[in-house]
Amino acid sequence: ARVRKYVTPLMIPAAMPPARISAGIDHYEIAVRQFRQQVLPRGLPSTTVWGYGAVGAPASFAYPAFTIEARHGRTVEVDWINGLVDRDGRFLPHLLSIDQTLHWADPPGGTAGRDSYGRGRGTYRGPVPIVTHVHGNHTFDHSDGYPEAWYLPDARDIPAGFAREGSWYDRFRAGSPLGDRWGPGRAVFEYPNDQPAGTQWYHDHTLGLTRANVYAGPVGFYLLRGGPNDVPPGVLPGPAPRTGDPPGRRYYEIPLAVQDRSFNADGSLFYPASRAFFDGFRGPYAPNSDVPPIWNPEFLGNMIVVNGTTWPVLAVEPRRYRFRLLNGSNTRVFIFKLVSDPMARRPVTAALPIWMIGTESGFMAAPARLDRLLLSPAERADVIVDFTGLPVGAEVYLINEGPDAVFNGKQDAFADPATTGQVMKFQVGRLTSDDTSTPPSRLSLPAPDGPGAETHRRQVSFAERSSTRVPGIGPVAVLLGTMREGAANPLRWHDPVTENPRVGAVEVWEMYNTTPDAHPIHLHEVRFEVVDRQRIGGGGRRPPDPWEQGLKDTVIAYPQEITRVKARFDRAGRFVWHCHMLEHEDNEMMRPYDIGSSGA
Ligand code: C2O
Ligand code: CU
Repeated sequence: ARVRKYVTPLMIPAAMPPARISAGIDHYEIAVRQFRQQVLPRGLPSTTVWGYGAVGAPASFAYPAFTIEARHGRTVEVDWINGLVDRDGRFLPHLLSIDQTLHWADPPGGTAGRDSYGRGRGTYRGPVPIVTHVHGNHTFDHSDGYPEAWYLPDARDIPAGFAREGSWYDRFRAGSPLGDRWGPGRAVFEYPNDQPAGTQWYHDHTLGLTRANVYAGPVGFYLLRGGPNDVPPGVLPGPAPRTGDPPGRRYYEIPLAVQDRSFNADGSLFYPASRAFFDGFRGPYAPNSDVPPIWNPEFLGNMIVVNGTTWPVLAVEPRRYRFRLLNGSNTRVFIFKLVSDPMARRPVTAALPIWMIGTESGFMAAPARLDRLLLSPAERADVIVDFTGLPVGAEVYLINEGPDAVFNGKQDAFADPATTGQVMKFQVGRLTSDDTSTPPSRLSLPAPDGPGAETHRRQVSFAERSSTRVPGIGPVAVLLGTMREGAANPLRWHDPVTENPRVGAVEVWEMYNTTPDAHPIHLHEVRFEVVDRQRIGGGGRRPPDPWEQGLKDTVIAYPQEITRVKARFDRAGRFVWHCHMLEHEDNEMMRPYDIGSSGA
């Protein structure tokens, strides 16, 4: 069925209500639960999704979640609860098919029946592990959501013999000052908020399961404000939602989580249940085949969902708005543009500029006037759109000129202009109050505090791994690794740590991408500067793109290029770096790294 666009008003996530506030600390109690939500337009079936919410406020459960509003210098403490249980306290199985042949959380620690390929291990129907990561947060390792620190819900029917927690859960519980409050189905994490104001987000990070867990819905914004690197109040368009806002309040600062999704006819989320979706490969699978039968190397949905509804419309006033854009897709790269005719042939001439004022980890040195904005998975952009002077009835469309395929860095293929090439609509109405915010062309922004002078340089690599048994099919994994004697040295998740910056080191990481695809690379814990890019094998150095002029935590690394980033590694502990195409991350394109020697 064709899904009508621009019939559902944009959902604006409210602020997550804290459980309590104490001196210097905001306490939250946040669970992941399963519920139904109207993601498709009314008249079509609703969708079973997962989402976060405050346990003391049942109406707060939503996909995407309510926004955590954090203040610089105030600690946020979150009791993260895996609430994937039914009313009777029995565990809920996953909504999607889980490939047990990947290196994944695997709570049973053994085999569970035979799949249709006779491989011994079919899709997983047991309790779902969860561990939450606040992406972009400069926190302690015990609170970072390490992929092997997952935990099952505290359900009453966990089968005997199941591991209830990942192997790192106990270790981090012992290392956390809040460890005595961890327990079955929960972990209490702390976020010191000692970094510049910026646009962070939170999502699941379970080993080998993140693509499926995140696709089911649990994501939310975590906005850090205040401190020496924020813009004084009143200068930028606002307000954003706060707890206790009266109903009907108008917001001029709005987060936009943009994702692609596909749906079955009954409204349920569609996600491929076998490798056949990607390259038609259906087996046969030898008992020790190296082709994961369910995992797909990448996945792109055929509809665009913004803040939990397909192709929404936002009624705007002729004034300035601040949007926090997030690409929350598994694989899809967006190239956003604001246009007046969404069906025009690509490329379309922009109708309105996008004024970018901030990257993931803070403000840019100066606003950048962009005609297009590229965001790969997990990247964020803090932008201003100025609708001032547009007549009542004017329509502005946010469109996507990225491809309906994994991105290779060339901008010669466009998403279907009738579907995935459109994102949302802004419908201009009347001004209800004066706009006192500063026009973006006249804004002065706080200078980003860079990482400082380089003390060390290291080379890392990405390389595709192909099947040694089935010729002619796509990759069976993509691996990170080190560079050794000019060649990629691919390593897997469980291989020993090879990246171990000293505490206080300022390192340049040269990332050699020897694959045919662009990969969004995320380093936990740090904020980095994009230094430059260069063809592998030589050639000129390319400066970062205009939308990358600031401190970031995720960067797109183009094929056959070296991408250089520079960061200060200042808090000791065990963290990870990985590709944020979730299908890649889940199948070995993630590595642990240590700041200082965490000794494991
Ligand atoms: Cu957005 Cu390692 O995650
Ligand atoms: Cu990747």
